[in-house]
Amino acid sequence: MTVPLRFAEATTVPAALGARGYDIVIGRGLLAELGKRIAALKPGACAAIVTDEAVAARHLNTAETALVAAGIRAAPIIVPAGESSKSWRVLEQVCDRLLEARIERNDVVIALGGGVVGDLAGFAAAILRRGLDVVQVPTTLLAQVDSSVGGKTAINSNRGKNLIGAFHQPILVVADTALLDTLPAREFRAGYAELAKFGLLGDAGFFAWLEANWQDVFAGSAAREHAIAVACRGKAGIVARDERETGERALLNLGHTFGHAFEAAAGFSDRLLHGEAVALGIVCAFEFSTRLGLMSTNDAGRVAHHLAAAGLPTRLSDIPALRTDADALMNLIAQDKKVQRGKLTFILVRGIGQAFVARDVDPAQVRAFLAEKLS
Ligand SMILES: NC(=O)c1ccc[n+]([C@@H]2O[C@H](COP(=O)([O-])OP(=O)(O)OC[C@H]3O[C@@H](n4cnc5c(N)ncnc54)[C@H](O)[C@@H]3O)[C@@H](O)[C@H]2O)c1
Ligand SMILES: [Zn+2]
Repeated sequence: MTVPLRFAEATTVPAALGARGYDIVIGRGLLAELGKRIAALKPGACAAIVTDEAVAARHLNTAETALVAAGIRAAPIIVPAGESSKSWRVLEQVCDRLLEARIERNDVVIALGGGVVGDLAGFAAAILRRGLDVVQVPTTLLAQVDSSVGGKTAINSNRGKNLIGAFHQPILVVADTALLDTLPAREFRAGYAELAKFGLLGDAGFFAWLEANWQDVFAGSAAREHAIAVACRGKAGIVARDERETGERALLNLGHTFGHAFEAAAGFSDRLLHGEAVALGIVCAFEFSTRLGLMSTNDAGRVAHHLAAAGLPTRLSDIPALRTDADALMNLIAQDKKVQRGKLTFILVRGIGQAFVARDVDPAQVRAFLAEKLS
């Protein structure tokens, strides 16, 4: 793979899901063309833009102007920023506002924001009037490389994250990479863990490319568009082959079983963002796989070195004031993953780019590994 030398035209990645298929368009400045693209797909439709306070302050104007210019009436619906908006209460408010705005079956819901807005607005669209079309306009790196593609939508329950939701594919994804210029650096880094994940799970060449070009991805050059397009192509391919996660799609959970346990141990707080937990979780998945004798090379060291260079946490001591022990972490893992006949399911690796689903992991080995990581 070579580094693109200049900003290209927008890149279009197809999500090949038959009648539910759609385009993922990636490029700098695409928000200004949002109205044109929606008008071409759905002539005469009205729209509601669901967004959060932080994104509204920076990008809602551009979105509204683009829609008005294409003759689309658009009602803004602004929710508080943060994970707490993935709740029944905020979902109810969004649904009420969509009804007040007279969004009908042939209209469209636009999710302008990160994964929180994408999941919340996507779920509202899935259930309102038995299903409205949704356009995902992701504004975080995590959302551009992961959550906006694939149709998973959800809110949280008191009993766990993402437990109430639906599969509801968007009709279009518009990833304007310039929107990431206003993203806090820490949020960008967190999204970078999910980006690197695509190389680590199935594309060793892409991971090597990231090792050489990650600074350009952060700086916002054409390398950023290239990396996001590679990730979207990877995700769209996996989703096309396994839309409902009966097999291969589970590979996207690389680093997530360990990661969710760390996130929960840190109280789902800003002490550890989701992507940061994933970075740590990926390092653990590589180290644990090494310990199980699945690879002879020092890929675990290479992965930890790269993620740390990008500013991500790679050791448990990187989490501020983490008070936990191996048993507490094992309880969290058991809650997250069903234990079947005393065995755990994990995404493990035989090397960089070679992830696989392991369904027979011995909890005692996981516990011993975590005890050592904590000491
Ligand atoms: N549906 C899926 O397949 C899927 C996959 C992965 C994650 N998720 C979900 O995604 C969520 C996390 O997403 P996230 O990391 O994008 O979090 P987020 O949506 O909370 O965004 C992070 C923060 O950045 C702010 N922000 C967003 N865009 C901005 C911009 N351009 N400029 C300035 N600030 C901006 C937001 O207001 C928020 O405070 C979780 O709820 C997770 O469960 C879903
Ligand atoms: Zn994730």
